Amino acid sequence: MSLLAFIGFIIIHVSLVLIVHFQNNIRDIVLGSDRANFWLALGIAIAASGGQSG
Ligand code: HEM
Repeated sequence: MSLLAFIGFIIIHVSLVLIVHFQNNIRDIVLGSDRANFWLALGIAIAASGGQSG
């Protein structure tokens, strides 16, 4: 049950990160600044994830 709760938390938490201020969050996660280039950050994020969700 606690593992399911944690998985549920991660799904909601990461969904909110991707829904609210998507561009700033991708820049912050990948390049460490929300003033970095969005397309560079998005390209690195897609390459690092293999273009998939997993
Ligand atoms: C006890 C568990 C956790 C708490 C209390 C927590 C809390 C937070 C908070 C407060 C932020 C905003 C930070 C900021 O804007 O500076 C954040 C961002 C984030 N969290 Fe969590 N988090 C937890 C676990 C996780 C887990 C397990 C994952 C993924 C597997 C995750 C993924 C992220 C991501 C991707 C961001 C966005 C970071 C960014 O924009 O730079 N978090 N979390």
